[in-house]
Parts: sequence; C-alpha cells; structure tokens
Amino acid sequence: MATDESFSGKLRVPEALTFDDVLLRPKESRVEPDEAETVTNVSKNVSLNIPILSAAMDTVTEAELAIEMSRQGGLGVLHRNMNVDQLVEEIEQVKRADELIIPLETVVTVDPDLTVREADELMEREGVGGAPVINTRGEVLGIISSTDIRPHLEVAEDDPVREAMTDQVITAPEDVSPRKAFELMYEHKIERVPVVDDENLLVGLVTMGGILQRREYDDAIRDEEGRLRCGVAVGPFETDRALAADDADADVIFIDCAHAHNLNVIDSAREIKAAVDADVVVGNVGTREAAEAIVDFADGIKVGIGPGSICTTRVVSGSGMPQITAVAEVADVAAPEGVPVIADGGIRYSGDAIKAIAAGADAVMLGSYFAGTDEAPGRVITMNGKRYKQYRGMGSVGAMKSGGGERYLKDDPDDEEYVPEGVEAATPYKGSLASELHQLVGGMQSGMGYVGAGTIPEFKQRSEFVRVSSAGQAESHAHDVVITDEAPNYSPDS
Ligand code: XMP
Repeated sequence: MATDESFSGKLRVPEALTFDDVLLRPKESRVEPDEAETVTNVSKNVSLNIPILSAAMDTVTEAELAIEMSRQGGLGVLHRNMNVDQLVEEIEQVKRADELIIPLETVVTVDPDLTVREADELMEREGVGGAPVINTRGEVLGIISSTDIRPHLEVAEDDPVREAMTDQVITAPEDVSPRKAFELMYEHKIERVPVVDDENLLVGLVTMGGILQRREYDDAIRDEEGRLRCGVAVGPFETDRALAADDADADVIFIDCAHAHNLNVIDSAREIKAAVDADVVVGNVGTREAAEAIVDFADGIKVGIGPGSICTTRVVSGSGMPQITAVAEVADVAAPEGVPVIADGGIRYSGDAIKAIAAGADAVMLGSYFAGTDEAPGRVITMNGKRYKQYRGMGSVGAMKSGGGERYLKDDPDDEEYVPEGVEAATPYKGSLASELHQLVGGMQSGMGYVGAGTIPEFKQRSEFVRVSSAGQAESHAHDVVITDEAPNYSPDS
C-alpha cells in the first residue's frame, strides 16, 4: 500500500504469497493421516465431510458430478451457463438421487385391469422388476413383480393383474426411516415397499436397491430430509435465478462474481441473501477490505482473484492477489465472525489444498482437478494418443458466449467483441471422481499428520508456514530422475 503521496511511494509494496512460496512446518504428531477428520463447514449452516467443492464451471459441475461430490461428502456447485428451467431440473436431479422414497410422479404403477402380459411389457419397458397396483383413486390394491408372473406359476398371460398380484401388501408410512424400511424388507423377504398415507393412497416407493445404494455412501452429505446437498452459482444480479434455486431446495447459493468488492454487486448480494432461505456464499474477493464489506451478511466468503488454471484475469487486468495471502487476509476478518472461507482456484496438488486450509480456509474449490473426470460434462478427446477432456474458463470467449459474462461484470448482449479473462483448454482425462477425491483428501490428511492435527479446526490453529526459496521449490518436486511410472497424485506438468 502506498504510504506517502508521491508516486515513488507506490513502489513500497507489500509482498503477497502463493502456494509454491510456502510449506507447512512439520511438527510433533501422534495423528495417523487416515484418522485425521476432515469435517468442516462450507457456510454457516451447511457442513461437509470433506472440505472440497467442485467449481461452478460449465466444463466441471452439472448434476452428474454434483451427485458424486455430495455422495463423497463434498459439495458440487452447479454452473450458471444454463437457463433457469434447466437449472431447476439439474437441482432436482441431485436432490432426487439416492432419495429413500421414490416420489409418486416417478413410481411405475400398474392398473389392476391390465393383463399380465401388458403389465410385464410395461415393467420391462420402464426397467423395473415390480410395481404397486393401484386403482383410480391411487389406493394400493397389491403389488406385482416378475416373480408373480413367471410361467411356472400358471398365470395365463391374458389374466388380469388383480388375479396375479400379491394382495397382502406390506406398506410403510410416509415418515419411514431407512432402517425401518430395510427391516421390513428383510423380515418379509421383499424388494420394494409402497409408501402410503393415512388413507392407504400411494405416495411413493422404497426399494432395496435404493437402500443399498444409500448404504454405499456413508460419507454423503444430506439435508434434513435425507436428500443429497446441492450448491448453485448465480450471477450477482440474478435474483430470479436465486429464487428459483431456493424454491428447488438448493442448499447453498453462491454469488458468482470475479470481483465481489464491487459495491453494486454487494448491494445485490445483500438483497438476494434477504430473499432466500438457502445459505448464501459471496465471492470472489481477495482482500481484507473486501471481506469487511461482506462479512456482516454472507454465510460464507469465497476467495480467489485470478489464481485459477484457466484464468487470465491477472495478465489481462493487471489485478489480482496471490492466493495464500488472499485467503489469510480474508480469514483474518471472517474467522472471528464464524463465517467460513472457501479458497477457490489455483490448486494443482493435494499439498496446495491443505496449504489453503492452513492459511485460514475452511474448504477449497477446484476446477481443473475435476474437469478430466468421467462425471464432468463433455466427452473424452484423443490428441497425439493421449486422452483429454475440454476445460474452459468461465471468462473465456466460448463460455461468455454461452452466458457467463455477468461473472466478469460484462454482460452487454449487443457487445460481440468480448474481452476475455480466461482461456479454453484441454485437461488430461482422469477416470472417476471418487478416485481423484481419494487422492486429494488422502494427501490433505497426510498434511494434517505432519502437523499433528486431528481435525480441520485444530489444523488451522496448529499449522505454521515456512517461506520457500526457488531452490527449495525445485527440491520439492521430483528432481534429477526420469519418472518411469505415473503416480496417481503427481505430474510435473501440472
Ligand atoms: P482451477 O485452478 O481449479 O480454478 O482450475 C478454478 C476457478 O477459476 C475461476 N475461474 C476463472 N477465473 N477467468 C478467471 O479469472 C476465468 O475464465 C475463470 N473461469 C473460472 C473460478 O473461480 C473457478 O472456481
């Protein structure tokens, strides 16, 4: 900061650091990395089991990736380059995945007067092995499954379903718990239980497949109704999108702006916060002053001005903040107020992610790390025998043309000549998101072990940085060798 009125005073500049400038000082420890707990908060009212978010970018987070993020204990943030109806559909996909009770609208039901053949064809077409039989009022009369209509049971194909169905139906009430539903199915050796209201009208269905699928994801983060959590990005002035996301039960709304210290953005974010029930995370910012301007109303603050792999903000605008300093400045303001901080962008390795937490972040957001996974949008392309997926900045020309300009406060529909702040690129294909997260979180837990911290809050308190010289940085990477086998968590290219 300039300390006198002269121009040369401007040259007395503070230093700002980023990931490669620092390392965690190893400390006495009894913490085994596998036992380090990674529970954290992404916003005041939403906690995560792993401190990881996927970026709100159109080559990173749509429903498929958001579902897997949430199942693994993190949070996917749906991008905003889609219209509001599509967004609502995507949120519903996330919320419906792994739902204990399949809602009535999506349950395949059978009319008692259909023939067995017709019912069989219907179930095969819909890909279900059985279905509740209901009358026109929606009352459950029975249940029919492929076992009821097997040929050896001597049911003729032209018999009505009411004669072939099981009419002693085991049903469950609307407030059935996963455990109770499982017990019912286990005790009666059945695969599906219709859920009924007080008048025996069908309201949904619980299946054994659904219960087992939920059990696979012990670490999943769920809302009060047991549905997966979902984050959504909205432009700083998109109140309608925020309201629609809130109505669709999005859990966290992210005000998605490249410069949230813009006062018009803050005014609008404040209004959006007042209008919705969901938690509202505001970003991006990179300085103490910006954090002070939003800390009174934000449920979380997202940090990152230009650190991202596809960002050119710093070279295009000459403005930005190296990420470790940015996170530390914001956390100084946010932590005493109990407002979680998210470090967004620039994370190439698990070591960078845990350094961001040491600097004061509660969670980290990554784009390039996940863009190459199976669950990210887009197809795999092959170039020179290597597999890649597309990855582009939301401020790139392509993404801006698809509607992303507002993030950069440039959204003039008549302006055809964009001034981009990001590039369009390709990133190596990586396989499943689950295995990427396994490496990422495992590496972060190693960092916690080196510092001797068993939880994220303890790690934030206990960790200390040392400053690294360029010689130290070179020493940190694999050196003086030719790598013969690729490691799953390290590539010198990144
Ligand atoms: P990584 O490094 O994980 O960064 O790929 C992802 C984050 O980068 C931000 N982002 C951009 N920043 N121009 C920018 O200056 C862009 O075009 C752009 N697109 C995304 C965003 O915060 C994301 O989470």
